[in-house]
Amino acid sequence: MKVTVLIADKFPSRYVEMLQKMDLEVIYDPKLGENDLPDAAENVDIIVVRSTKVNAETIQKAKSLNLIIRAGAGVNNINIAAANQKGVYVANCPGMNSVAVAELAMGLMLSLDRRIPDNVIDFRKGVWNKGEYSKAEGLLGKTLGIIGVGAIGREVAKRAISFGMNVYGKDISRIEGEMIKDFSEMDKLLPLCDILTIHLPLTPETRGLFNKEMFKYVKPGAFIINTARAEIIDEDALLEAIQEKGIRCAFDVFAGEPEGKAGSVSSRLQENPNVYVTHHIGASTEQAQNAVAEETVRIIKDFINSGVIAHWVNRAKTTDAHFQLVVKHFDKPGVLASILEVIRDADINIEEIENVIFDGGIAASCTMKLKSAVPTDKLQAIKENPNVLSVSHVKL
Ligand code: 3PG
Repeated sequence: MKVTVLIADKFPSRYVEMLQKMDLEVIYDPKLGENDLPDAAENVDIIVVRSTKVNAETIQKAKSLNLIIRAGAGVNNINIAAANQKGVYVANCPGMNSVAVAELAMGLMLSLDRRIPDNVIDFRKGVWNKGEYSKAEGLLGKTLGIIGVGAIGREVAKRAISFGMNVYGKDISRIEGEMIKDFSEMDKLLPLCDILTIHLPLTPETRGLFNKEMFKYVKPGAFIINTARAEIIDEDALLEAIQEKGIRCAFDVFAGEPEGKAGSVSSRLQENPNVYVTHHIGASTEQAQNAVAEETVRIIKDFINSGVIAHWVNRAKTTDAHFQLVVKHFDKPGVLASILEVIRDADINIEEIENVIFDGGIAASCTMKLKSAVPTDKLQAIKENPNVLSVSHVKL
């Protein structure tokens, strides 16, 4: 039976055709929304989405679902917890749209300084206001704080440096797998910055990062650009800070963003003259969408041909493994099974396992990450197996 791929978002036609040529069953339905997906995905193996939400119901109902690909960077629209429970792989296409997002961030920076959107709105209304719009300060020598120095943040930094800006970067780092909010440094960085631009993923740790406390450190009159995720900024705290400090903002993301591609929109930010909002178009250049689509096709190809998942985001970062057992053995039927039998008899959980073959196909090496130690008698039993070449057992 053919593998079925459902593309539930806009995707360049050239790449849809590429998938069709790969002998896959391809369903291309860019109009599907979150509530249509549970039925639409019931019999598919792979789902490809951009911002369309893949909720728990979709994942639970999809009988043969194996892989969800986010054709973009942020995976917050996919219910990863539900995917984890069912063993569904989730992958993304990091870095492929970074330049596009960075270009928009620079555009928003210039827009804030020159008030380009207001210029245009007045012109369309028949209003000429050269006097008012000549009050820009310029970006040269301004201090820019890049919050989140991943692929996008680095592209912004390159462009800002070429504009003659003074660039600082701050990441919300992970220590031993735990993400930390480093307020100690933010309180030193934020007061220095004329402009802040946010390039963080949305995680439980970054949600609401810019709250009332954080806005206390933001310089009066500063510009804030958010092309990442709306939820990183607490909107109530922001509106308060705008009023108290005259902060001006340009956002590509905002609370209550509509799911569809067209329709009406309603937000408290609409009434605020200090805020410009674009239509979540950061990644939407042809260049970026082609790069993302190419990566999506590559992920599907690799998965089908070798079972390897590129950019697999829901693989456990840490496991409960405390011991490693490496058994080199003859590559013959039943040998691996006989080794695993000993591990089973010892009631040890294998957390991870990989078996690789040496050139020529005579010898193989099996590496197992184990929850507990292999008792001496069981290790001896493995060593005494005539098809075993060597055994190493270490504490991790
Ligand atoms: C991303 O995470 O890649 C961006 O937010 C782009 O979202 P989009 O593919 O829905 O435009």
